[in-house]
Amino acid sequence: PATPAAAQTTATRRVEPRPAERPRRLRATPSLRRLVAEHRTDPADLVLPMFVREGIDAPVPLASMPGVAQHTMDSLRRAAVEAAQAGVGGLMLFGVPAVRDAVGSGATDPDGILNAGLRALVEEVGDAVVVMSDLCLDEFTDHGHCGVLDAAGRVDNDATLVRYQDMALAHAATGAHVLGLSGMMDGQVAAVREVLEADGHTDTAILAYSAKYASAFYGPFRDAVDSQLRGDRKTYQMDPANGREGLREATLDLTEGADIVMVKPALSYLDVLADVAELSPVPVAAYQVSGEYAMIEAAAAQGWIERRRAIEESVVSIQRAGADFVLTYWATELAGWLR
Ligand code: PBG
Repeated sequence: PATPAAAQTTATRRVEPRPAERPRRLRATPSLRRLVAEHRTDPADLVLPMFVREGIDAPVPLASMPGVAQHTMDSLRRAAVEAAQAGVGGLMLFGVPAVRDAVGSGATDPDGILNAGLRALVEEVGDAVVVMSDLCLDEFTDHGHCGVLDAAGRVDNDATLVRYQDMALAHAATGAHVLGLSGMMDGQVAAVREVLEADGHTDTAILAYSAKYASAFYGPFRDAVDSQLRGDRKTYQMDPANGREGLREATLDLTEGADIVMVKPALSYLDVLADVAELSPVPVAAYQVSGEYAMIEAAAAQGWIERRRAIEESVVSIQRAGADFVLTYWATELAGWLR
């Protein structure tokens, strides 16, 4: 019987293998690896999402997001200062109101929890950290949808735009620097830009949640804002199956005047992020959402993965895919490690 080919080769080899290229050369020492690193996480490129809740007198920890809490106005201020001291680049605020109604009145009330919280943040961190608002109705409506409903119970796109315009004026009046439009209504960027200009808020920037998917990874966030939603958001947020459509949404937002475009969630949508980063003439952000946070925390708590390495790796992966900055619930802690 014939000798197997592999065995024959081994037996007759005379020349030692010599790879023509040796990429390992640049991995040999920590200093070499540091020198040639293509990306490095900088605290200034991190944005901390925060929750402020009306009517509580102590922070409420979130079971599904260990380490994250709904803040009182006081603990919000303290956490903002802590983030600023760690060098975090921005804060994104979400409000949890005590009372909700069909049109989300609390969202446009100048003394509503989100507007009051934004004013507190601006007062606390001034121009040292960028203050961003979540411009969406879902926390404020009693049905939990991101817009108002028509007679048939469907989310009414154009009626919602009017509410977003009022919300934008309320947010801009607090001194917030950036408005984060997360509702996924058609035409929302143009509608908001128009009223901001008309009202003299020419310097208030718009961060458009351009490619925002109807994602299971928002689960813990819904606890964080005490979401009233029954059903889903699939008639306005995007289908996870669609990449090309993410580019279309980003392109539309750019045409409508978005100052920054965002992809959300991050880790499951790095392809969309890379494609948007490729075409965008404006900065691109990515949101590492609540479920991404919860997965790493849960696995780390079980001892199944190394917590710090997993956090650092997940964030730098989002940067590598093309994000200029990253929204992450680990912003303050991660910034602390990087100092
Ligand atoms: C809508 C909004 C959501 C998130 C940010 N803005 C929830 C949703 O669309 O259902 C999710 C953020 C996260 O999961 O961390 N206001």
